[in-house]
Amino acid sequence: MELLFLLLLLVVASTVFLLLHRHHYSYSYSYRRRREHGLLPLPPGSQGMPLVGETLRLISAYKTEDPEPFIDDRVRRHGRIFTSHVFGERTVFSADPDLNRAIVCGEGRSFECSYPSSIATLLGRHSLLVMKAGPHHKRMHSLTLTRFASLPLLRSRLLPDIDRLVRLTLGSWGDGQLLPLLDQAKKITFELTVKQLMSCDPGSWTEELRKEYLLLIDGFFSVPLPSFLSSRFTTYGRAIRARTKVAEALRGVIRKRRRDEKKDSSSSSSPSPSPSPSPSPSRSREDMLDELMDGFSEEEIVDFLLALLVAGYETTPTIMTLLVKFLTENPRALSIIKEEHDEIRARKTQESEPLQWSDYKAMAFTQCVINETLRVANIISGVFRRATTDVHFKGYTIPKGCKVFASFRAVHLDSENFKDARTFNPWRWQRDDENGIFTPFGGGPRLCPGYELARVEISVFLHHLVTRFSWDVAEKDKLVFFPTTRTLKGYPIIVRHRHQKVSEKVMR
Ligand code: HEM
Ligand SMILES: *[C@@H]1O[C@H](CO)[C@@H](O)[C@H](O)[C@H]1NC(C)=O
Repeated sequence: MELLFLLLLLVVASTVFLLLHRHHYSYSYSYRRRREHGLLPLPPGSQGMPLVGETLRLISAYKTEDPEPFIDDRVRRHGRIFTSHVFGERTVFSADPDLNRAIVCGEGRSFECSYPSSIATLLGRHSLLVMKAGPHHKRMHSLTLTRFASLPLLRSRLLPDIDRLVRLTLGSWGDGQLLPLLDQAKKITFELTVKQLMSCDPGSWTEELRKEYLLLIDGFFSVPLPSFLSSRFTTYGRAIRARTKVAEALRGVIRKRRRDEKKDSSSSSSPSPSPSPSPSPSRSREDMLDELMDGFSEEEIVDFLLALLVAGYETTPTIMTLLVKFLTENPRALSIIKEEHDEIRARKTQESEPLQWSDYKAMAFTQCVINETLRVANIISGVFRRATTDVHFKGYTIPKGCKVFASFRAVHLDSENFKDARTFNPWRWQRDDENGIFTPFGGGPRLCPGYELARVEISVFLHHLVTRFSWDVAEKDKLVFFPTTRTLKGYPIIVRHRHQKVSEKVMR
């Protein structure tokens, strides 16, 4: 099956090769016609080849170490708002912070989110990411915000859980052990999310779930084929089957919770037996699942939980890993980070004393490093939307129905917006006032509800990493930007215990 797919690619590629020397389609005709009718033109650009458009150029451009080759090149030729033709459709690209803001804030009015159907199928139609903006989306979105971004909850419940689970994983690392850091970061993040959503503590159940989960995630980055090709052996086919299994496991948790609730209400005195494999019986009553139990169908809850697991799984661990990579390559920044965290540890009398909210708030330079990592690496490089009306902006028209891509990365790496924009420099955050052009978590009605949670997770992870370990890079690793921002080898490092207790060292 994969062979068939390769053949298909070959046919496409050779067509492209044959057409390579012919003139590009351009919009000059439609400009003239539109001008004659007194309409604003489409943003300038080229459509590339028939059918494939500029898709292959986009893909090959991003297979380099250069973060923004495709957009850079077109911004130079056409300006910050331009038109291209990728993934089968005419698409207006924006590297303009004002247009980006108009796009994310216009969600539900002049724009709507738009995912390929292959992704929507994997996520499920009731997932927050796929749901069209409207009252229902708004309700689910604010529910998620209250669970994950409310300060009282972060302080009292999420931070202690994060602190405990990060310790647990780092506590299992041996002196001199070789670890692909990304794997460990993913394990931690997955366990955290499962804990936050449905109060399950890590164990064989979560590891089993995670294995299926990895297959599901792979599906997001595979090229989906027509269903008759993708049935059994392809990555996408595997992902679909993994989705069924993950959904089943989640359904099991929901049903058990329903049973427990009934038991609780019928005989509140008898302790409910907890059959394995299942979440810990000591869960608190007030997790995300409890919140969803009344008012939503089983299918809705499954889709919702599954999407939340996806949303945090690729993003946060990648930022954790890249942050460590950038710090390793910037010893001066690393030594400030170490000082900052050693000082926090030194205030604790016992090694096992948990982090408090005030400790998190004292991690000032850490926040600069997190922002700078988000700015340079841009895990979510931007968002796709579709115009639902004709949109007029800075002398152009984006016609109704047209696809748009608001590139956050292009804005974050533009020297108009950030001095020496392509250099990792966390100190800039001690001075720069970014004036709302820095949007690693998007904005408007679809603003990432995990924006604060992710920061806390990354900070706590970094805290325990630098106070308990030193590390060496085990293998040279490379940062790439396609199909996602990541390092090729998952950043393998060798960790060593820091022998002296940090608290003693600082006190001396
Ligand atoms: C560094 C980590 C993260 C980054 C950079 C990030 C970035 C983003 C961005 C840019 C969006 C907007 C997508 C759009 O407008 O279409 C988004 C949406 C979302 N994120 Fe995150 N995210 C991160 C972590 C998380 C975490 C930990 C969670 C888990 C709670 C999460 C849950 C979501 C959800 C549910 C949405 C969809 C919101 C909606 O469409 O209404 N994210 N994220
Ligand atoms: C980091 O970026 C956020 C915007 O996402 C901003 O509100 C915050 O002030 C920045 N932090 C620092 C330390 O500059």
